[in-house]
Amino acid sequence: MTELLRIERAAKRFGEFVAVDGVTLTLPAGRLTAIIGPNGAGKTTLINLVTGAFLPDSGVMHFKSEAITHLAAHQRVHRGLSRSFQIINIFARLSVLENILIPVLSRRRRTAVSFHVAQRETDAIAEARQILREIGLGGKENVPAGALSHGDQRLLELGIAVGPAPELCFLDEPSSGLTPVERSTVLELIRKFSAERRTTFVIVEHDMDVVFSLADWIVVMNRGQVLAEGPPAEIRENRAVREVYLGEDL
Ligand SMILES: Nc1ncnc2c1ncn2[C@@H]1O[C@H](COP(=O)(O)OP(=O)(O)O)[C@@H](O)[C@H]1O
Ligand SMILES: [Mg+2]
Repeated sequence: MTELLRIERAAKRFGEFVAVDGVTLTLPAGRLTAIIGPNGAGKTTLINLVTGAFLPDSGVMHFKSEAITHLAAHQRVHRGLSRSFQIINIFARLSVLENILIPVLSRRRRTAVSFHVAQRETDAIAEARQILREIGLGGKENVPAGALSHGDQRLLELGIAVGPAPELCFLDEPSSGLTPVERSTVLELIRKFSAERRTTFVIVEHDMDVVFSLADWIVVMNRGQVLAEGPPAEIRENRAVREVYLGEDL
């Protein structure tokens, strides 16, 4: 499998506290990875390091063989790395369509699919509408994003995350706060995007049913470190993992 991202000995501390403590991971293209672990394990911090929200105190990261350790967040997006947030992150006063148009247009400007501004905008709107249809918000394109239900906002976030057509996309608790029905909608979409787009997804998710049915590969974090990684069947039987999830049904 082609290696997309390589993280080597990444560490991040906040004062005395070590949130990410020497993480080494390789993410190949096309493998849907789930990162799991108790609250405070360092999952979000790891995503922040990879996507450039924070710089690591030590360690190096390569994306498609290029060193990205010190690149700004937007430079990483330009190279094909995107994310969604654990806490909803949308432009509440912009319309649903505009929220998707922002990443789509920004990519089209960069890649200059067309040199004509008007044509580029027409193409971008068509592409954004296509994404809206896929996430089931086709009928709500003019609604201000802030007026959507929580479930629809989560769907919109997913649309925003795939808007830049990333090669690697991190989704931080994409189904948090959702009802079981909404949750399965979001997860089916991730499965569909994963199969139909050239995007490799990495999700942080708490629902173990979801993790074990969706992921090809599971990374378990605990106290800032990778406790175990492997295919779901192997992780389910892993003794150290079972100790962390004591009493929970894996
Ligand atoms: N910006 C920050 N400042 C201080 N401490 C932080 C910050 N971000 C995260 N932490 C701490 O780092 C630890 C790991 O947090 P986080 O990566 O959010 O865990 P997870 O996503 O696995 O629940 C937590 O104890 C959290 O309080
Ligand atoms: Mg988190």
